[in-house]
Order: sequence, then structure tokens, then C-alpha cells
Amino acid sequence: MVKKVFQEAADYISSRSSISPRISMVLGSGLNPLAERMEQTAVIPFTDIPHFPPTTVEGHAGRVVIGTLDGVPLLVMQGRYHFYEGYTMKQVTLPIRVMKTLGIEVVILTNAAGAINLDYRPGDMMLISDHIYLPGLTGNNPLMGPNDDEFGPRFPDMSHAYDPCFREIARKIAQEEGLPLHEGVYISLAGPSFETPAEVRFLRTIGADAVGMSTAPETVVAVHSGMRVVGISGISNAAPGALPSRTTHEEVLAAGKVLVPRMIAILRRLVPAIAEELEQ
Ligand code: HPA
Repeated sequence: MVKKVFQEAADYISSRSSISPRISMVLGSGLNPLAERMEQTAVIPFTDIPHFPPTTVEGHAGRVVIGTLDGVPLLVMQGRYHFYEGYTMKQVTLPIRVMKTLGIEVVILTNAAGAINLDYRPGDMMLISDHIYLPGLTGNNPLMGPNDDEFGPRFPDMSHAYDPCFREIARKIAQEEGLPLHEGVYISLAGPSFETPAEVRFLRTIGADAVGMSTAPETVVAVHSGMRVVGISGISNAAPGALPSRTTHEEVLAAGKVLVPRMIAILRRLVPAIAEELEQ
């Protein structure tokens, strides 16, 4: 039996909508316009859902939106829990287990990230091919403690954490739409302080292309329970020292402006393509 915590949260969410999505999406900051395109929506604040961690910042509470996007049933998380806010990794990843309990099979994780790779520019997108989960490697993995065999094995395989089939589909869509899409390694740090230039050099040396403060813990928990994961980063800035010039606030704002329509363009086509693949 699935632990009461996850079951009660899932039961509450499913009581609010008659739609049963197989695909979910976690929207990084600034990507709300995508959820605005959904129809038949039920909007559920995190604070209404049993066992969801209390949100700390008033007015910035996240929410779950269930509805259809161009006819495809979809569950969207607008906002997420971050480790740097003081949540435990188990709290950060609780919504992923609730999604699994709801019957979600594919989760699309989006985020904003800093460029480590010198070929990346603000406004670019990066399809995540693999990750380095630094807090996980150093003792902050959400799967630590007794294993919940209901969800998955004690030692889950992570060799194909980001689904190769869906990556190929995303690549094809980007090509058809003429959208710049890199493919690379996302490194997840605890934050909240940004990296020093020396840290950025270290991250580049160990093989990272983009850096952020989310996603990898969610991927680990999703893959553990057999969910398929797609990860897309919107490059919002160059990490400190990654480019000769300092990144200005204006540049970050400009990157956000081009990123939103680009991310939306790719995600709007990716969701139905994944749905079609699941039907096969
Ligand atoms: N570093 C870490 N996290 C981030 C960055 C960055 O430069 N940009 C967006 N999230």
C-alpha cells in the first residue's frame, strides 16, 4: 500500500478534477504563460493539498494545475520546493511521489540555469542529457533512509535518467521549429549563493554545461519510481566568470523575454508528441 501521505495528497488532487493525466510538467520561474494556455483547468494551491510542505513566502505559493493542453491531459506544477529554502530533499521531492501515485508516467522538468559551457548564451535552451547531483553525491539524496519498496529499488539505476527516446523527439522538434537547443549536463547545487568564478571553473572541469538549484533531486525520485524524465533548462545568464564580461541584469531580463516563447514553442509540441508515444 502506498504510504498514506502520498495517497492522501493524490486523493485530494484527483478529487478536484475528472482529468487523469499521464504527463506532468514542473514549470521553472517565468514559464507560467504555458499554464495559462491550458483548458478545463482545476487550480489547486500547494497550501490546500494535504501533506504538501507549508510554503514560506506569502504571495509566491506554488500551485498544481490540472487540465488539457491542446487536448492532451496534463498536470502542471507552477513552482516547486527548493533545498535552499530550507526544505529537506524529501520535502523537495514529495510532489514527484504524489504524481507517481496519481498515475503520472512522464515528468517534464524545466528550470532556469546559468551557462557553464562557453558556447552557451543567455536565451539559449539546453536539453538535459545527464546530471551531476552534487548535494546528492555529498550526502543529501532524497532516497537516503529506509527504501520505500512500493516506489522502487534500494539502488536505482541512473544510467538513462533523461529518457533517450523523448530527447530524440525534443531534438527533432527544436530542429523543425528552428529553435536553438543545446544538449548537455546539468549540475544541481544547493544554493542559494551563486557560484564564485573558481567554482564555475571547477564545475566546467568536472563536466557540467549548465548550473542550477533544482531538478536533479526530482529526477532521482522520479527515475527511482519508474517514471520517465525530460529536462529542459532555459539559460538565463552566464555563470560568473564564464564569459569575459559580467552578466548584467538587463541581459538576464532580455534572456527571459526570448526564453519564454522559445520554451513554450518546444513544450507545446513536446507534450502531444510524448502523449502519442505513450499510446504506442
Ligand atoms: N547559478 C545557479 N543557479 C542558477 C543560475 C546560476 O548562474 N542561473 C539560474 N539559476
